[in-house]
Amino acid sequence: MEDTGPGPGVERDLRAEYARHYGFATEPPLRRAEERVIGADYGATSYTTRRQADRVAALLELGPGRRLIDLGCGTGWPGIYLAATTGCSVTLADVPVEGLRVAAARLERDGIEGAVLAASADALPLRDGTFDAATSSDVFC
Ligand SMILES: C[S@@+](CC[C@H](N)C(=O)[O-])C[C@H]1O[C@@H](n2cnc3c(N)ncnc32)[C@H](O)[C@@H]1O
Repeated sequence: MEDTGPGPGVERDLRAEYARHYGFATEPPLRRAEERVIGADYGATSYTTRRQADRVAALLELGPGRRLIDLGCGTGWPGIYLAATTGCSVTLADVPVEGLRVAAARLERDGIEGAVLAASADALPLRDGTFDAATSSDVFC
């Protein structure tokens, strides 16, 4: 039979897997490992390092007054970091609410201008031109 790639069942499994992981993604041992490996502590599940995130900030010309969306943000990496370091605002979009809860708490804790959005990146309930820049780390996997 022809292989037609992952189907809806696989997508559901992935969503459940991420939801489960985001329940403990910010536990101290994982944060320590994350800090050592990528240089950040946002509960990342991607391979994007802090150095790479800094490069993204420069390429996207982020700064105060710019509006960024992070598609597939998980628990907020790198979107919250980019907003914190450049002064842009950030909207964090993903499907599992478990990650978005962690991200929302981090936004509030760090006093970052931003919002979370539970939506799939291929069906965003937003008008064209809402953002100046978009980023995405290890989402198209
Ligand atoms: C490897 S994780 C990366 C999370 C985060 N960007 C990071 O660097 O830690 C991939 C994320 O992409 C999200 N994702 C996958 N398909 C998506 C879609 N269609 N719309 C929004 N998010 C999606 C998953 O739910 C998951 O949180």
